Amino acid sequence: MDTKKQLDHLLQRRAEARLGGGQDRIDKQHAAGRLTARERIDLLLDADSFEEFDMFKTHRCHDFGMEKSVFPGDGVVTGHGTIAGRLVYLYAQDFTVLGGSLSETMAEKICKIMDLAMKNGAPLIGLNDSGGARIQEGIESLAGFSEIFLRNVMASGVVPQISVILGPCAGGAVYSPALTDFVVMERNSSYMFLTGPKVVKSVTHEDVTVEELGGADMHSSQSGISDYAASSTEDALDYIKRLLSFLPQNNFESAAVIPCTDPVNRHSDVLASIVPNNPNAAYDMKTVITETVDHGEFFEIKEAFAPNLLVGFARYNGVAVGIVANQPAYLSGVLDIDSSIKGARFVRFCDCFNIPLVTFVDVPGFLPGTAQEYGGAIRNGAKILYAYAEATVPKVTVITRKAYGGAYCVMSSKQSDEEARQHSAVIGGSDLQGTGQCRTKR
Ligand code: HXC
Repeated sequence: MDTKKQLDHLLQRRAEARLGGGQDRIDKQHAAGRLTARERIDLLLDADSFEEFDMFKTHRCHDFGMEKSVFPGDGVVTGHGTIAGRLVYLYAQDFTVLGGSLSETMAEKICKIMDLAMKNGAPLIGLNDSGGARIQEGIESLAGFSEIFLRNVMASGVVPQISVILGPCAGGAVYSPALTDFVVMERNSSYMFLTGPKVVKSVTHEDVTVEELGGADMHSSQSGISDYAASSTEDALDYIKRLLSFLPQNNFESAAVIPCTDPVNRHSDVLASIVPNNPNAAYDMKTVITETVDHGEFFEIKEAFAPNLLVGFARYNGVAVGIVANQPAYLSGVLDIDSSIKGARFVRFCDCFNIPLVTFVDVPGFLPGTAQEYGGAIRNGAKILYAYAEATVPKVTVITRKAYGGAYCVMSSKQSDEEARQHSAVIGGSDLQGTGQCRTKR
């Protein structure tokens, strides 16, 4: 074959690979209101930045007539590209090929880019749309999941890992997202569950819809797996682009400092009057946050889950910080199981990625009651205590009104920071009069 023919052949093979499971299935995907894997990648990455790997790789299964169902790329598109000029590694499951189900070779493709993300210190993004383990491959598929889960764990705290759920995410497919740092789900299009409504009905006799069992709103408000319920694919991808702007590439780096045009000594009249004199009266802590951070921009995480504790990212003089804050406007800002888990996970993430923590405290204590005690309030409350105590990033705590009981200790108290404790012992800790902290230092 001469060079021209070889090139034509290559271009033809690429065109075939780009069709995934074929035009009919692409049409079906569109009719379901969903984009294809490649269309999603185009929306996410900077124009022309995508470098694809393993475009022609196919599965090796010969059972159940699978030798007749072979598609170049085998159900996942993998590679690297840039977002706002920054390198990211990504995979996008292709539902048009056997429902995006995970084969042995598909797992190999995903693991390859996970390894490269770790080696080169760049964030890893997974666009999920899969029916789970490829049934025809049996244990080979399960082994593939195990390889992916192992890498999710090895990459944890090394590079940021983000999952976007844009279609079904069933069975084993749910565990990789659950091991990553952030999960975004698209409303009315995505769902995550271990077993679907029919299995639930046969085992527990519950009647439940797909949306009720594993939809974006449920997971964003009740289970807390999802950090954000997006209104569309575009909204989901915009969310992770904004999220990435607050994060470093890896655990050796710090997030980029953005030149700040918001005066650092800007005066706020709102802050002078926002905290009510009555210690039981509610106010919105979000206003305190937005009044103090650069340009009032607070990028909230898990907004709908455990809203009695706010977590999210913001900037002070251009430096990215993680914000944790009690919310007196919801359940009086009390700490409970869900808010403890939410706070602990966020604090540990920030600590891994060199993101300083700013904590606004106004907390009446832990929520009492049998439901909380039986549910493990002690075990889960200990998680946030542990997270703050082991965090070595700079920590600043602002008590806006009250810090009562055990919740005082938990909410980034000065005593929970070993370095601050030593420093405070030397200088006498006189900067915290009235909180009771300085007495223990002298
Ligand atoms: C092989 C699969 C598949 C799978 C879907 N397909 N899931 N092929 N293995 N797991 C195929 C379908 O046969 C179909 O092929 C095509 O993908 C599209 O699927 P549809 O059913 O037509 O689409 P839809 O109606 O949108 O339903 C999507 C779905 C459903 C809800 C995901 O396909 C489904 O329930 N799939 C099975 C889910 C599941 O049980 N997964 C295994 C879990 S076990 P054709 O050629 O007919 O168009 C697991 C264990 C791992 O994951 C544990 C690790 C810890």
